[in-house]
Amino acid sequence: MCGIIGYVGPGKASQILTDGLKMLEYRGYDSVGIAVLNHGKLEVRKDKGMVEAVSSALAFTTMDGNVGIGHTRWATHGVVCRENSHPHSDCTKNIVLAHNGVIENFSKLKAELSTSHKFASDTDSEVIAHLVEEYSKTQPLQKAFMRAIGRLEGSYAIALMSAADSEERLFLARRNSPLVIGVGKGEMLCASDIPAMLRYTKTFVTLEEGDMAVLSKHGYKVYSADGSEVARKQITVDWGLEMAQKGGYPHFMLKEINDQKHFINESLASDVTEARKLIDRYDRIDIIAAGTSYHAGLLLAYLLQGMGKGAQAFVASDYPFIAKPDGKTLIIGISQSGETADVLQAFRYAQKSKKIAIVNTLSSSITRLSDCVVSLNAGPEVGVAATKTFTSTLVIIFKIIYGKEKLEGLSHLVETMLGQENEIKRLAQVLAPKENAFFLGRGKNFPIALEASHKFKEITYIHSEAYPGGELKHGALSLVCDGFPVIVLAPKDEASQKLFGNIKEVKARGGVIFSVTDDPEVKRESAFHIDIPEGTDPALYPLALIIPLHLLAYHVSVLRGINPDRPRNLAKTVTVE
Ligand code: G6P
Repeated sequence: MCGIIGYVGPGKASQILTDGLKMLEYRGYDSVGIAVLNHGKLEVRKDKGMVEAVSSALAFTTMDGNVGIGHTRWATHGVVCRENSHPHSDCTKNIVLAHNGVIENFSKLKAELSTSHKFASDTDSEVIAHLVEEYSKTQPLQKAFMRAIGRLEGSYAIALMSAADSEERLFLARRNSPLVIGVGKGEMLCASDIPAMLRYTKTFVTLEEGDMAVLSKHGYKVYSADGSEVARKQITVDWGLEMAQKGGYPHFMLKEINDQKHFINESLASDVTEARKLIDRYDRIDIIAAGTSYHAGLLLAYLLQGMGKGAQAFVASDYPFIAKPDGKTLIIGISQSGETADVLQAFRYAQKSKKIAIVNTLSSSITRLSDCVVSLNAGPEVGVAATKTFTSTLVIIFKIIYGKEKLEGLSHLVETMLGQENEIKRLAQVLAPKENAFFLGRGKNFPIALEASHKFKEITYIHSEAYPGGELKHGALSLVCDGFPVIVLAPKDEASQKLFGNIKEVKARGGVIFSVTDDPEVKRESAFHIDIPEGTDPALYPLALIIPLHLLAYHVSVLRGINPDRPRNLAKTVTVE
């Protein structure tokens, strides 16, 4: 998946596109490029590498012109190289486009076109430029564009323009990949998400599946898949630009971890009444999510099981192969972006079931597939590794299960856990040179151990595994030897006695214990510990545990010279299956 931005108006397109791409980089960052139209002359500059490096090496912002498109890539078809970077052109080099998604029938289309068209890349995307070229030989550009879009199978968000178009328009289309129009004053934008356009407007139009649109500096028109003009609702957001900027922090991830002090209350204010009513009506509940959201889903499943529900959490990509949801199954999808292809696919699969979406991006695709939407209210999250949206999801889950009253001490708890940053930094120093680590948790804390380990490997590149404490002796203990780090999630709860036994097993083999705990006995056994404040409500332990462990992953990442906002091979919003 990738990031797309487009601009048409009186401003300097190259500058606007470059700024926007920096904000979209979380979506993919192996190559970058822009195309700018200047009085009928089209110029493309692109290469592999990250936005900052490529845009300065190729002097993007020296390009003149008021219309343009930009793209930051996360490779799917074709290796990472200049030729495969977007924007892609047709044979005449008049038509250029940026694409996010996967064109599933591209081989067939390419074979059809290759007798009379010359391809310059290995991407699936390039075929779209040649299709438009082909059809525009006999039709006006807009018709040719629509006809080409009609031939595509798979997922796409597309921004296209042509040097031959005297009206200097941008042509857009989307299906199963996000694309939002930004409505400015005398200028129009489009981008894969809203924060990339916040500098210019707070008014947006989200395109629906199959929609196409035409932007000019005078305004926009939206067309449905059959070509008829349609009206789409405008939304206004009250996000400030600073929400999508680092605000003095060295990384988005650190800012977003600290943001939690504030957003925890916003999340607490979110309305969960309808969701709870639906949950009460069902005995069988399937929870669908991916990555970090899946870990929150596991915890939700445990808590629903505790209420006597037949609840199970599924990895979204496997759901269609395992489950047979019917009208008696309630689906809960968790997705901060609301655009994760695996989750959307699982939602479509569960046709007969009612669905709740727990989501941060209210304009996202998942909301259109859901009967009930619960907002995380966490504000935009830019760092690739999810942090504040995970804790916000926990807050929503707690509110659904326990009600608001139980959560009163929450923001104080968040501040206390964040307040231990110095101890966390000391711990990070010890962990940074290691190459392996285990995270142990039992019961309701096991999903949090999974999340802590996931974050750790995601951004520190240290190999780590999470185990339920009791599983260690069934295999992984063979790896524990002198100096092996084991991070134990050990609040004083019904499982702590048994977890204490696991700590002893690790120490007997020379392993080093790092703990997050409120248990004095565990503290005595630990080489390092982070405190959970005494008197913390056990229901809130998962939240108390994850905050310092996200922060730990962050500091280890930085100590190892990694940019935690942009871990290699990953992207924040994965719009391919
Ligand atoms: C990607 C990200 C993960 C994220 C997952 C699910 O893989 O790298 O950090 O947890 O997608 O994202 P979602 O937006 O559906 O919560």
